[in-house]
Amino acid sequence: MKPEKILERYGCSADNLLAILHDLQDASPEHYLCDADLRAAADYLKLTYGFVHGVATFYSMYSLKPRGRNLIRICQSPPCHLLGSSTISRELMRLLGIGFGETTPDKLFTLEMTSCLGVCGVAPAMMINDRVYGNLTKERIAEIIADLRRAQ
Ligand code: FES
Repeated sequence: MKPEKILERYGCSADNLLAILHDLQDASPEHYLCDADLRAAADYLKLTYGFVHGVATFYSMYSLKPRGRNLIRICQSPPCHLLGSSTISRELMRLLGIGFGETTPDKLFTLEMTSCLGVCGVAPAMMINDRVYGNLTKERIAEIIADLRRAQ
């Protein structure tokens, strides 16, 4: 979706900045905010580019650099940690050959940590793009990654 279409869904109030940045980032196949997105939001809300850039860099939910087509976020909050998220993290790093904050060379996967996803009842959990996966095991992780690779 073009940035203009996203912007026109919101009123011209600075209160809408976070939601606008969120939608602009969601519309990016590379899960990030490009310079043009920041400028479009700033112009629309009559804010300075510097202010919008500062907001985008302050919150960890926004990225100013391109990420993989599949953005994997592993929950590291205590309930998931207690139920094995470290093992899941190590297995993901091994399967993908990357560390946290990195993207695979084929641009298919980016690995990130996150705090509670709100599904502690199925810990350990992770989110890939908009989909939540729970009750993770090393075997299930391997299946999920293989499925995503096949789907590309
Ligand atoms: S602690 Fe991981 S989903 Fe809540």
